[in-house]
Amino acid sequence: MASNHTLSVDLGDRSYPIYIGSGLIHQPELLTSHIRGHSALIVTNTTVAPLYLNAIENSLNSAGIRYNSIKLDDGEQYKTIESVMAIIEILLTERHDRQTTLIALGGGVVGDIAGFTASIYQRGVHFIQVPTTLLSQVDSSVGGKTGVNHPLGKNMIGAFYQPQCVIADTSTLSTLPDRELSAGLAEVIKYGLIYDASFFSWLEQNISGLMQKDNSLLAEAILVSCQTKAEIVQQDERESGIRAILNLGHTFGHAIETTMGYGNWLHGEAVATGMVMACDLSLRQGWIDDSVRQRCISLLKKCSLPVSPPPDMGIDQYMDAMAIDKKTVNGTIKFILLEALGKAIVTSDYDPELLVQTLSEC
Ligand code: NAD
Ligand code: GLY
Repeated sequence: MASNHTLSVDLGDRSYPIYIGSGLIHQPELLTSHIRGHSALIVTNTTVAPLYLNAIENSLNSAGIRYNSIKLDDGEQYKTIESVMAIIEILLTERHDRQTTLIALGGGVVGDIAGFTASIYQRGVHFIQVPTTLLSQVDSSVGGKTGVNHPLGKNMIGAFYQPQCVIADTSTLSTLPDRELSAGLAEVIKYGLIYDASFFSWLEQNISGLMQKDNSLLAEAILVSCQTKAEIVQQDERESGIRAILNLGHTFGHAIETTMGYGNWLHGEAVATGMVMACDLSLRQGWIDDSVRQRCISLLKKCSLPVSPPPDMGIDQYMDAMAIDKKTVNGTIKFILLEALGKAIVTSDYDPELLVQTLSEC
């Protein structure tokens, strides 16, 4: 694939570009051309700052933009309203006005926190996503879901709020730990399962290269993933319908993340297991045959991802956590299930007995 790509997320006056390529954080104008005022706040964390904060600071210096930065503690357990308040405190003490821009430099945790803060600070200021994990480059930086966790439920405090642009510099993945690469691949595989059977086959063929961080394969996977996500979000920005298919495996997965304690299971790991459970329920419903479930399990295993839920998690714990899921309406839990490889549906029309079988036997 050619080195750099620009995609567009077309949402009327909330449209924005996604830049994908190697070395993009060293191209100052990509960033600064999307900053309207004269100030910015870089939101990052203690792991990412030593690696990439300098590059962002250099870009802002080159354009004479005044900036501050905040380095949050690293981890899903810090995706909290307290982190939001810490960012707001800096914005206020450093006199950032409504023209300021927040720059999210990091993975999905930083992006979700910074985006949500931008959505509420002085009723909304601009923000830019500079995702540095595979997961954030293929999923969380695109589409405008922002938010933080509550102890009782994942992502329960949040807003739809689109960034000004997404700068996905694939060279930042060189420093990503293997476990985080695998977690990102879970969301990549999700796109194949829900929307694109031929992409799923391409992943099957190229998975060992992807696991070895082959640059051009990773760039191709990011491009296809972002294209798919943009296509879905453009049809249904606020998730009143089709966008929910992007949550394949997430109802089970969020229950695992919440119950096991934020940060113990990575988001991508919980989604991987959740997708196997969704395949299992789809199979029990008679909607897919076992070869689809087996192909899913086999691909996830090749990514060193977990394919079985935590052994100590009981049915009641799932039911409690899933009752708080955002797709639950009047007590009925909706699931994203498969009708075929590459075709997902959002449904509450499943047999509750089969759900119990999936939870107890998976
Ligand atoms: P993360 O943000 O916790 O990042 C994973 C780890 O990698 C962290 O330790 C981080 O400091 C480190 N890191 C980041 N970039 C690095 C780099 N280039 N080199 C070395 N280390 C690096 O996790 P994530 O997987 O990126 O994101 C998960 C979060 O995203 C979850 O909170 C999930 O709910 C959220 N999410 C949101 C959406 C959405 O649409 N908003 C979609 C999917 C997931
Ligand atoms: N990650 C699910 C969504 O963006 O809708």
